Amino acid sequence: MKIKTGILAVIATLAAGHASAAVLRLECGAPGPGQDVCMTSAKEWAKKTGNEIQFVATPNDSNEQLALLQQLLGSGSDKIDVLQIDVVWPGILANQLLDLKGYSKGAEKQHFASIIANDTVGGKLVAMPWYIDTGMMYYRKDLLEKYNQKPPVTWDEMTATAKKIQDAERAAGNDKLWGFVWQGRAYEGLTCDALEWLSSFNAGTIVDPSGKISVNNANAAKALDTAAKWVGSISPKAVLNFAEEEARGVFQSGNAVFMRNWPYAWSVMSQDGSVVKGKIGVMMLPKGGAAGRHAATLGGWQLAVSRYSKNPALAADLVMYLTSAQVQKFRAIKGSFNPTMPALYQDKDIIKASPFMAELYPTFASAVPRPSTVTATKYNQVSNQFWNAVHDVLSGNAKPTDALAQLDGSLKRLSANGTWK
Ligand code: GLC
Repeated sequence: MKIKTGILAVIATLAAGHASAAVLRLECGAPGPGQDVCMTSAKEWAKKTGNEIQFVATPNDSNEQLALLQQLLGSGSDKIDVLQIDVVWPGILANQLLDLKGYSKGAEKQHFASIIANDTVGGKLVAMPWYIDTGMMYYRKDLLEKYNQKPPVTWDEMTATAKKIQDAERAAGNDKLWGFVWQGRAYEGLTCDALEWLSSFNAGTIVDPSGKISVNNANAAKALDTAAKWVGSISPKAVLNFAEEEARGVFQSGNAVFMRNWPYAWSVMSQDGSVVKGKIGVMMLPKGGAAGRHAATLGGWQLAVSRYSKNPALAADLVMYLTSAQVQKFRAIKGSFNPTMPALYQDKDIIKASPFMAELYPTFASAVPRPSTVTATKYNQVSNQFWNAVHDVLSGNAKPTDALAQLDGSLKRLSANGTWK
């Protein structure tokens, strides 16, 4: 499904066969099974309303998607009506998106208030919440049991457990096994992983909510140092080019003890035929030492309508349908996409399909947001500088203290000394 930036490929068309049917173009891809799950619900809407939907594909990496959408919306193109937007984009794209307030009929009240606040920019409801992501740790229950290991609480414990099992299994001939896989490519996903490391060591969130650049501190250096030591030891060097799906590929083939990923991975890995089905445990990401805390980055996606859509009312209707409780329930069961409605976390069918949604509920409520609200239109540049600095450290090209000092300087220049205007 990967396509070059700048080209929008129509991947499927659903014709309603009505002479008066409108054609709506919908972009709703996600790693793993996300596209199919979205298509199923969109097709229901098309059938119900007698309209036509064209599904458009975009690149997998969220920052590449952003570049493509900015290019498209920036030219006022009507090639897309409904788009999925990352939780960190409302400030960046607000001007190109329709205010959904006139169409929502109060549906906002069913969603977590914090996400509605995130999706409201300058009083405009620029998107409706669709699903929440938070970073989680997947592990091989069977391997931890085999070696009599408890699920680790701190990163140091995780490192020791991973190393122990990796060494023992390799000595026994399982030479493809790695201790820990995660997202180390220089892209938005690395910002998410590294924010978790920082936050777990009480090192702040790069830029604090008042706009102050806080990334250059000793705990952050410690966090990056911890992660850099994994590369080539418990994590393959190739992790430096892993996004979500590459990490899942290794874990799902049975070749990793631990994996950091988002909730979607649960449903794909638990399907019939999956080598690791029934062997997967899920827990909070480890703490940065005894004084640290469990931290999970807040991710997730929203649905929005382009300002340039020729069918704004119909497009908004599609958004309201796809973000409704009924569709969110279907998505939670089928694709383990975390609902954005508190009530659905009490739903028995959802909890049966994805027990972690109940078990890790406190993590979802306290997930760490990236500094996108305060840095607004500059968020993507902030993130880009951060992930490059982190990638340099992980690749062994820079010492944590040097990389952080340099990042501090370049973020200060970008922000005009912390004003972000
Ligand atoms: C997931 C998250 C999104 C994040 C992305 C990074 O899709 O939902 O918020 O930006 O991963 O790869």
